[in-house]
Amino acid sequence: MLLTVDFRLLTEGLAMVKKIAIIGAGNVGKVLGYALMKKGYPITGVVCRTDDSGKKAAHLLQCPVYPQPELASREAEIVFLTTPDRLIEDVCKLMAVRGGFRKGQVVLHTSGAHSSNILSSARREGAYVLSFHPLQSFPALEEGLSCLPGTFFAVEGDEESFPLAQDLVDTLQGKLLFIPTEMKELYHAAACIASNYLVSLTDIALQCFSVMDIPAEKAFEALSPLIFGTLHNIREIGPEKALTGPIARGDIPTIQAHLAKMKILLPELVSIYKQMGLYTAGLAVRKGTLERAEEDELKTLLQGGNHSGR
Ligand SMILES: NC(=O)c1ccc[n+]([C@@H]2O[C@H](COP(=O)([O-])OP(=O)(O)OC[C@H]3O[C@@H](n4cnc5c(N)ncnc54)[C@H](OP(=O)(O)O)[C@@H]3O)[C@@H](O)[C@H]2O)c1
Repeated sequence: MLLTVDFRLLTEGLAMVKKIAIIGAGNVGKVLGYALMKKGYPITGVVCRTDDSGKKAAHLLQCPVYPQPELASREAEIVFLTTPDRLIEDVCKLMAVRGGFRKGQVVLHTSGAHSSNILSSARREGAYVLSFHPLQSFPALEEGLSCLPGTFFAVEGDEESFPLAQDLVDTLQGKLLFIPTEMKELYHAAACIASNYLVSLTDIALQCFSVMDIPAEKAFEALSPLIFGTLHNIREIGPEKALTGPIARGDIPTIQAHLAKMKILLPELVSIYKQMGLYTAGLAVRKGTLERAEEDELKTLLQGGNHSGR
């Protein structure tokens, strides 16, 4: 039987399969590396700080472990610099000096805090640079792999690398979000507010319960339907419409009562309560349920004046 091969499809397929080096195979390096390897991207090598970590990553990603990053990256078409944030720029510079990059390679990092500009030493060697931040939390391999589908990847950097970024995101079943390079810090601040400050706000509410001698576990159980119900409402109708409570209703005596009690029992939390109250008053005005005059009264009570949610 004559075997017919569609060479166009074959070469298209090959063009997609790019070789990847992972410099810093920790949580993110392993999750992304493993997910991409399973979809056919060969891993040319990994580098870690410790031998033990390197061996485990090499076993997982079915590749050699190298003592020096420039050895792992030479064969690769895509270089993942997934070390801790504070090391990315220096590791990149070191690799550039030692000939670890070449023309046409794509060198990326996954930091949310830094822009692609910290990879300029690779750019000077002819590589295209990219910041490729998964807007997701990766505590460990299994959890990380399970939450990849639907994860947004914030991307900025050299335009020449954008088609590759799109391929990687598609392969990881994620979604792509382009952001301006000069706004990377603001983007990261937003991510920290949405995630870390939500955690802190929950902790503040738990502290109020602890004053009533309600254990944290019980308190969280009691608050959970409220927290998750609110998150659900935010997703369904957006923050403005999801806002309820005394500030949205203009119940100023209730806010006075909160403050009076907190000043006695939790004085250290009064200032954050006030700051959040000021912002919430602006949001309530936007929602249309708080009059300007009520907002002014609230501002006086909360001793702010300048900080509003508008
Ligand atoms: N984890 C998350 O939830 C998350 C989410 C989004 C973005 N990110 C970003 O992803 C990047 C990696 O974070 P991560 O959480 O995966 O960090 P991590 O788990 O601490 O992994 C860092 C890896 O870098 C290795 N390493 C340290 N120094 C090195 C060096 N000089 N040369 C080569 N490798 C070195 C470490 O080796 P050892 O294992 O031997 O220590 C480790 O394997 C960061 O830019 C972070 O901001 C993380």
